[in-house]
Amino acid sequence: MKIAISSDHGGNNLRREIMELLDELQISYEDFGPQTTDSVDYPDYAKPVAEAVAKGEFNRGILICGTGIGMSIAANKVKGIRCALVHDVFSAKATRCHNDSNIIALGERVIGPGLAREIVQAWLNTDFEGGRHTRRVEKISELEG
Ligand code: RB5
Repeated sequence: MKIAISSDHGGNNLRREIMELLDELQISYEDFGPQTTDSVDYPDYAKPVAEAVAKGEFNRGILICGTGIGMSIAANKVKGIRCALVHDVFSAKATRCHNDSNIIALGERVIGPGLAREIVQAWLNTDFEGGRHTRRVEKISELEG
């Protein structure tokens, strides 16, 4: 399992927290920044992570901004990306089981670090169920043209 992770300025603290978690879990990742606390534009940081996941260079991606919303909208514009905006453990598991989400988006201004850690662990540890969900995910791919 190899993870690509980035944030904007609104997600810097939670990104560091999640990288600590990945270190603890001994999961390898690449940090796509930013490396400063300057105000940045979240699509600039969603794009490289989403493209790297879509190309298969990473198994999964984690994107963090203030709300998670901008990151999720931007990532879902990249063909092959199924980015889920998640702020509870139930949805973290469900989006893996049912949507085979390959990126998770989190909002640092929405949830605390403890819940974010639980969400990321649940999301990383849950497999896609396949079956009828495969057909539905294929229909999402068809929408991409
Ligand atoms: C930045 O202020 C904020 O707009 C961004 O982090 C994010 O919440 C956008 O969706």
